[in-house]
Amino acid sequence: MTRTTVRIAMNGVTGRMGYHQHLVRSLLALREQGGLDLGDGTVIWPEPVLVGRSEHKLRTLAARHGLDRWSTDLDAVLADDGIDIYFDAQVTAAREEAVQKAIAAGKHLYVEKPTATGPAGALKLARLAQEAGVKHGVVQDKLFLPGLRKLRRLVEGGFFGRVLSVRGEFGYWVFEGDWQQAQRPSWNYRAEDSGGIAADMFPHWEYVLHELFGPVRTVQAHLTTHIPRRWDESGTPYEATADDAAYGIFELAGGIVAQINSSWAVRVHRDELVEFQVDGTEGSAVAGLRRCRIQHRAGTPRPVWNPDLPVTEPFREQWQEVPDNAAFDNGFKAQWELFLRHVVRDEPWRWDLTAGARGVQLAELGLRSSQEGRRLDVPEPGR
Ligand SMILES: NC(=O)c1ccc[n+]([C@@H]2O[C@H](COP(=O)([O-])OP(=O)(O)OC[C@H]3O[C@@H](n4cnc5c(N)ncnc54)[C@H](O)[C@@H]3O)[C@@H](O)[C@H]2O)c1
Repeated sequence: MTRTTVRIAMNGVTGRMGYHQHLVRSLLALREQGGLDLGDGTVIWPEPVLVGRSEHKLRTLAARHGLDRWSTDLDAVLADDGIDIYFDAQVTAAREEAVQKAIAAGKHLYVEKPTATGPAGALKLARLAQEAGVKHGVVQDKLFLPGLRKLRRLVEGGFFGRVLSVRGEFGYWVFEGDWQQAQRPSWNYRAEDSGGIAADMFPHWEYVLHELFGPVRTVQAHLTTHIPRRWDESGTPYEATADDAAYGIFELAGGIVAQINSSWAVRVHRDELVEFQVDGTEGSAVAGLRRCRIQHRAGTPRPVWNPDLPVTEPFREQWQEVPDNAAFDNGFKAQWELFLRHVVRDEPWRWDLTAGARGVQLAELGLRSSQEGRRLDVPEPGR
């Protein structure tokens, strides 16, 4: 077995995403399984170098996981020729500057979404990376979740006939932070820190819709801040200046209508934290993070509206579970594996910084649509 070591500078690894999803469940999980086996006698061995602002936190993390390299000096890490990839899961507002430095240092890039705080910055990163000839990728984890992979299988298998509409419901209650601690970072609720649910979730909806159903052509959104006062990590009250709910209608190429509610001020009466219902002429599906249920045209009941009678049909029972038919790994890890193969073997890859810029653009147009109270066209980014 030949071992190809890939050294990855991981910035923002003390944060929720950087630590749990990218370090522990992706790269350390890969090391635990002996590396990424390419099937031809080669194994890719990821070697994380932890980067961040707090020496104490980095040292503790490195010790906990038996890693020997960490640094609070990003410039020094980027100047090291031995580093192959720069990975960024910092707060969104810190990303653009760090990624630009990494491009200048000639590193391949893999970054969390949103790739920048606005479309101009996101496109600039895509252009600079292209010109520098480095490989670049953006996290689009939802595509690799079991529920959405089953949904893709249905689309590709022609299950739906003509797709008519997509209804997405995402959200849960995020505690205000006074009597119960908030379960998300406080910067998410401050516009001045690049927070907001549209900035956070519209990039996800852009690639989910684009990849499964077609490019988004128009957006009409209503953003609001339902909870105007929250308490931060230290228990100090602050004004929540960013949107905590975004109600969006997206028209896709071919006339498909997608309507997605995103909210951190909703209580869950669903089976999963996100669910998409897709209705087509031949059948419908409801997909969550893990499960996917279908109802074929031939099995569709014939309800008759009569409010004077109790419900006559067990509607939820009339759906059929889509089987796994495969072992699904963690979605973040699955995408990391493809990116590492792209870097080492030049295998195909489409989730790049240009794709990331589309998501940032949609978030920005959603915000503008809400401010101006009108529907906006969604151009190809840069046009
Ligand atoms: N792919 C997904 O599903 C997903 C989910 C949540 C968040 N994210 C993205 O991941 C990124 C990190 O989000 P998170 O929820 O892990 O945030 P977090 O607050 O838990 O972590 C932020 C990280 O950035 C670092 N940081 C650097 N500069 C900072 C600064 N000036 N102020 C505060 N922290 C700073 C922190 O030390 C920490 O390591 C965001 O860009 C977010 O949009 C992606």
